[in-house]
Amino acid sequence: MNQPNLFDLTNRVAIITGGGGLLASEHAIALHAYGAKIILADINTENCNAAIKKLEVEGVTAIAKHCDVTSKESWQKLLDEVVNEFGSIDILINNAGFTNQSKSANYDATFENFPLDDWNTIMNVNLTGTFLGCQVIGKQMLLQGKGSIINIASLYGVVSPNHNIYPGTGISQPVAYSVSKHGVVALTKYVATLWASKGVRVNALTPGGIFNNHGGLFLERFQHLNPIGRMSDKSELRGGIVYLASDASSHVVGHNLIIDGGWTAW
Ligand SMILES: NC(=O)c1ccc[n+]([C@@H]2O[C@H](COP(=O)([O-])OP(=O)(O)OC[C@H]3O[C@@H](n4cnc5c(N)ncnc54)[C@H](O)[C@@H]3O)[C@@H](O)[C@H]2O)c1
Repeated sequence: MNQPNLFDLTNRVAIITGGGGLLASEHAIALHAYGAKIILADINTENCNAAIKKLEVEGVTAIAKHCDVTSKESWQKLLDEVVNEFGSIDILINNAGFTNQSKSANYDATFENFPLDDWNTIMNVNLTGTFLGCQVIGKQMLLQGKGSIINIASLYGVVSPNHNIYPGTGISQPVAYSVSKHGVVALTKYVATLWASKGVRVNALTPGGIFNNHGGLFLERFQHLNPIGRMSDKSELRGGIVYLASDASSHVVGHNLIIDGGWTAW
């Protein structure tokens, strides 16, 4: 018997923000493998273009667009360009964020000294950027009567960072990161329940610690505390991305899919 491919994304148009960063290319590889057309959007289009060159080597095609996720005008411009070129938007991955890879100016400051400017900068990109993406692109999806939005949260949007891991490692987890990601999970539930009956599904995906050449004390402590005994490989988010983007998750609404090796389970 011929089974329909639940994960089929043929010709679905996908926007991935933070397109020049570590994980966007993984999302692109995953969606492209099931037939989607990929738009990588970033405030830094040079990084986006570099990511696209690397993807091409793997047979993945994508185009780059500029978008500052903190600006409603920038989202509107992206929307207009993509709808003009492709006719619709089926998938949005709100993935842009300030992270340990792309730090704000004083990302490593202690809580007691954490500058308000950094708090605002991180909240603006991680949370307000996700809000604006849902609002502007979601409005288009409502007109279409269909769409899937995936908001990238973090294990530190579910639990607090374990403050014992970081001293002496050169890595920090600022308050605004964790709080913004808790906000992303809350925002996801709010919009998801508002639009569930209108054909637009909104879910969150929570990555755990992704291995990116970490070593030393940090790696030792993190691995010891993770039930699975290791950090995630960046490719291990691919299955979750395809699942949430596709009709395989047609009844999944306001969910936070946690892919963290069990970190938040104990
Ligand atoms: N890497 C991890 O270990 C990890 C773990 C948990 C969650 N996450 C989340 O996954 C997402 C992707 O992480 P990553 O590791 O690829 O991050 P990254 O730092 O490698 O990339 C982030 C990208 O966002 C872009 N960006 C920053 N401000 C922007 C703005 N105003 N408008 C548009 N783009 C902007 C940057 O230019 C950069 O290309 C983030 O939301 C992050 O919080 C990552």
